[in-house]
Amino acid sequence: MKHFLKLLDVSPKEIEEILNLADQLKYENKHNIAHPHLKGKSVGLIFHKASTRTRVSFQVGVYQLGGQAVVLNPGETQMDRGESIADTARTLSRYFDGVMIRTFGQHIVEEFAAVGSVPVINGLTDFEHPCQVMADLMTIREVKGTLEGLKLCYIGDGNNMANSLIVGGLKTGMKVSVATPKDYRPAPEILDFAQSYSSFELLENPLEAAADADVLVTDVWASMGQEGEAEIRRKAFAGYQINRETLSAARGDAIVLHCLPAHKGEEITEEVFEANAHVIFEEAENRLHAQKAIMTLLMRG
Ligand code: CP
Ligand code: NVA
Repeated sequence: MKHFLKLLDVSPKEIEEILNLADQLKYENKHNIAHPHLKGKSVGLIFHKASTRTRVSFQVGVYQLGGQAVVLNPGETQMDRGESIADTARTLSRYFDGVMIRTFGQHIVEEFAAVGSVPVINGLTDFEHPCQVMADLMTIREVKGTLEGLKLCYIGDGNNMANSLIVGGLKTGMKVSVATPKDYRPAPEILDFAQSYSSFELLENPLEAAADADVLVTDVWASMGQEGEAEIRRKAFAGYQINRETLSAARGDAIVLHCLPAHKGEEITEEVFEANAHVIFEEAENRLHAQKAIMTLLMRG
């Protein structure tokens, strides 16, 4: 593994290796056992979109690994004034041992990785949110003891979260069912990938998708960059909500995940969110451990 750009590129064996190391790093973190795998290294954290969890968990994660993080917020680099991705990548590769990028098009992280000479991690693009889904898989495995054979159901927009969950779920042996309105399906490349799995179902009816699910996941109806479509989307997604009724279609011991931030009253009810808050905030914590594992595997040298 040279980069971590999308789960489509990551093998099931590599996913397992990341999850196992993440568990170990979480254990070491809880027991104050030092793990300075990035001692003396510098990691760039580039943001073209807002962030709470990704920004803080990466910065704290690099520190806990013995390295230093340099955070470049939206509007702070020459890239935001038109300097090319290629020139930025060739420059920053001279300073950093690795770079995390949160941006719009997937092509930006791909080009950065192709032209630069250090590992690149996707901290969310419009296409995938692979770090989040590694934390989600870690959380499901912690709670359920396994991933293989479980049913994961995603309800809502066929966005970056849907794309990464489909790939991550199928690659780890889960059954994956997805319910989206027909104009908001996951990306064609993702559906091409999923097509070869008999354990994949793409539906329009949320209750049908939720039937006997072990894990229910949703995400906002309008992602970053889609603020102007919020009103149209509110109409298109009415009914694509995780609520009491959705939960009653799922297994009695089903858990609910949400990558956050949540829009309660839209994609999830406050009641269901709060009843699952213990899992949802563990999921948020697991960003830290999963990303430390990814950085260690890519940058330890
Ligand atoms: N889930 C997630 O990526 O959160 P932030 O947007 O706060 O980083
Ligand atoms: N789909 C959301 C996820 C936020 C973490 C977005 O891209 O805004």
